[in-house]
Amino acid sequence: MDKLADFIHREHNALRPHVELIRVAGDAVGEVPLSILRELTNTVLGFLVSELMPHGRDDHDILYRTLEQATQTPGSTATMNREHLEMSKMADELGNLHALTVAEAELSERTTRELRRVLYGLYALINLHFAKEEEIYADVLEHRLSTTEKDLLVATLGRH
Ligand SMILES: [Fe+2]
Ligand SMILES: [Fe+2]
Repeated sequence: MDKLADFIHREHNALRPHVELIRVAGDAVGEVPLSILRELTNTVLGFLVSELMPHGRDDHDILYRTLEQATQTPGSTATMNREHLEMSKMADELGNLHALTVAEAELSERTTRELRRVLYGLYALINLHFAKEEEIYADVLEHRLSTTEKDLLVATLGRH
C-alpha cells in the first residue's frame, strides 16, 4: 500500500472502533436497560460531533479539493460531501432520539424502531463512505499526484 492510501487507512482505522460502537448501540436497543442505552447513544453522539464531523471537514477542505484539482473535475466530489451532510442530518436525528431516551421512563415502540434505523443507517453509511475514500479516492490520487504532491498532501492532512 502506498503512503497516501496507508495514511487514509490509518486515519479511518483510528475512528473505526467508535464506528463499531454505533453498531453495538444499534444491537443494544431494546436489549439493555435504558440507562445503559442512554450512555451508549450519548457516547456515539460525542464521537459524531467531536471526531467524525471534524474529520469530514478535513476531507472536504483538503482531500476532496486536491482530488478535484488533480483530476481537473470541479464538483466531482459533491456526492461525497452530500454523504457528510447525510451523516450530519442523521447525527441530529440521533440527538433528538437521545433526548427521548432521557425523557421517556420506558422506551416507546416508535423510539425503539427509530433508534435502530438511525444507528444501523449511520453505521452502513459511514462504512461505505470510508471504503470509497480508501479504495477509490486513494487510488485516483495515487495515479494523479507526483511523489512530492503526495508527501505534501499527507503532511497537510497530518497537521489537522
Ligand atoms: Fe469523508
Ligand atoms: Fe475520511
